[in-house]
Amino acid sequence: MQEFSFSTRIFFGEGALERLRRVEDRRVLIVTDRFMAELGVPDRVASHLTRCTVTVFDGVVPDPPIEVVTAGVQKFKECQAETVIAVGGGSTIDAAKAIRAIAKQALQIETDKMECFAVPTTSGTGSEVTDYAVITDKAKGLKYPLDSQALRPPVAILDPELTVSAPPAVTADAGMDVLTHALEAYVSTGANDFSDAMCEKAVSLVFRFLPLAFQEGTDLLAREKMHNASCMAGLAFNSAGLGLNHSMAHAIGGKLHIAHGRINAMLLPKILTFNADLTNVQKGEHTLAAKKYQRIAKVLDLPASSVRLGVNNLIREVERLNRTLKIPATLKEYGADLGEVRTLREELIAAAMSDVTITTNPRPVEEGQIGKLLAQVAGGPIA
Ligand SMILES: NC(=O)c1ccc[n+]([C@@H]2O[C@H](COP(=O)([O-])OP(=O)(O)OC[C@H]3O[C@@H](n4cnc5c(N)ncnc54)[C@H](O)[C@@H]3O)[C@@H](O)[C@H]2O)c1
Ligand SMILES: [Fe+2]
Repeated sequence: MQEFSFSTRIFFGEGALERLRRVEDRRVLIVTDRFMAELGVPDRVASHLTRCTVTVFDGVVPDPPIEVVTAGVQKFKECQAETVIAVGGGSTIDAAKAIRAIAKQALQIETDKMECFAVPTTSGTGSEVTDYAVITDKAKGLKYPLDSQALRPPVAILDPELTVSAPPAVTADAGMDVLTHALEAYVSTGANDFSDAMCEKAVSLVFRFLPLAFQEGTDLLAREKMHNASCMAGLAFNSAGLGLNHSMAHAIGGKLHIAHGRINAMLLPKILTFNADLTNVQKGEHTLAAKKYQRIAKVLDLPASSVRLGVNNLIREVERLNRTLKIPATLKEYGADLGEVRTLREELIAAAMSDVTITTNPRPVEEGQIGKLLAQVAGGPIA
């Protein structure tokens, strides 16, 4: 038995922020980061509320550590929040999800007594609809994906106008996170008809609208489509799971501090090649992952008359998208210290092997194979 749930109410499109007008006479905690606060985003959100007492916690940082969550819980207690509104990228929404869950437990608040709104300002993680919150242990350099249905936000507000200020690099990284979610969920061992439908739509929207959103940040149609794609890919992987791309991205990103979407994007063509496993065709039968990549290539109108052709064209198209978005192909090109990668090699492999997302990868993975993929993404000698 599998589950596909739409339990988050999703308000989307231009003007979606108007939904907040129905929040009346509440003590509201807005969770955000310093940068968003400087842009005046919490004030903009607060202006939609009706007779509310508003407290702003702007202490979130990218890849939020446990300390940020603890500080947020403290703020929550001080203002006795009844409503939490998370406004920001995946880091902010993840932090707010953890803050809300811990505060709820500590203060023994009943679920229906606490409102919660997730308002993403990047089109990337889909965190507004997922059961995950990725929290970083700074001391150990490890990213932990917490996983509980209690973390899923009850309401998501997808207002594309909030993403217009995202600079091209943030747009590119987040957008490639969407593509990685969709392509991983599509071939994961938990994939199902419902998640497949979401993935196919999300992948087409990304290829069509991400270059536009990157080049012309004020294009509201492109922004809206990317916001919807991000949410759909989130719904898909929340049901189907992810795979090796994310386990390696969590491991490398946690240690080398590379933006989550960027490291996903650098890994993606290598992981597609690994999962398709074209060099190991048994009795003329390709792997299910390879056949599904061919199907996605067809959805994208790429030449795909054979599995091999479809897979290779999909990989080429992902590489081309990375180049359009000015995302480096390797850690070397990115400017990472390969000596550090060499030193951390065993730790990175161990962290990827123990990341929960690896459990739904379509191809079973061994340490040696992760070592080879690490060398590929490094783009230089690390052994
Ligand atoms: N919960 C999940 O299901 C899930 C899934 C994938 C990734 N993640 C996690 O989410 C985090 C990444 O989130 P992200 O990619 O959204 O980036 P982010 O939240 O870390 O934000 C990146 C930067 O962009 C800035 N920013 C955000 N919105 C902006 C806007 N509209 N205008 C200008 N600047 C803006 C932020 O201030 C920040 O400096 C990682 O920690 C990753 O591990 C979570
Ligand atoms: Fe992700």
